[in-house]
Amino acid sequence: MYRIQPTEAIHVPGYHLVRKALVHTAGEPLYRTLEVVLSNLSAGHPQFVAIVANEVVGWCNIVPGDDASGGQMTGGVAAGFRGRGIGSALVVAALAQAESKGMVKVQLEIPADDVQAYRFLARFGFAGTSPAGDECTMSLVRPAN
Ligand SMILES: CC(C)(COP(=O)(O)OP(=O)(O)OC[C@H]1O[C@@H](n2cnc3c(N)ncnc32)[C@H](O)[C@@H]1OP(=O)(O)O)[C@@H](O)C(=O)NCCC(=O)NCCS
Repeated sequence: MYRIQPTEAIHVPGYHLVRKALVHTAGEPLYRTLEVVLSNLSAGHPQFVAIVANEVVGWCNIVPGDDASGGQMTGGVAAGFRGRGIGSALVVAALAQAESKGMVKVQLEIPADDVQAYRFLARFGFAGTSPAGDECTMSLVRPAN
């Protein structure tokens, strides 16, 4: 059983560890992760964690860019917890909040050869551009209300 909830300060150590294991560039110190989470929280940006037995096992964040109608998504689920709907539930929660904030375009980068992530994201309506180098940008564009 898992639950999805907005990320709070108490989740930061677990979130930091899960993210560090999945994102090569996530080498920042714990205090910096805490700063970013608190800043996102006070700004109301979508950031959710998945919890299993009181441990963080996944996350999904969408942070607006310079233009608040567009957001950059990051997310992941720890390897031992995949294939049970956690990633989908995280993306649904984050996209719903992004939509309520007026973000009409959400995008993210995935490894160009990650067929599983591509298929996963395509189910939510994300479409990929041609890979540039090792990465492929996927975008979800929704009509503005
Ligand atoms: C992509 C990623 C987030 C998916 O997380 P996940 O928790 O496995 O996602 P889900 O379980 O919701 O969906 C994955 C698969 O399980 C299936 N599934 C969904 N709910 C399920 C359930 N209750 N029981 C069994 N399988 C289920 C889905 O149909 C899906 O099948 P697919 O192989 O056709 O895609 C995860 O693999 C990951 O972290 N990858 C590395 C990082 C990454 O790619 N991040 C970018 C994407 S945000």
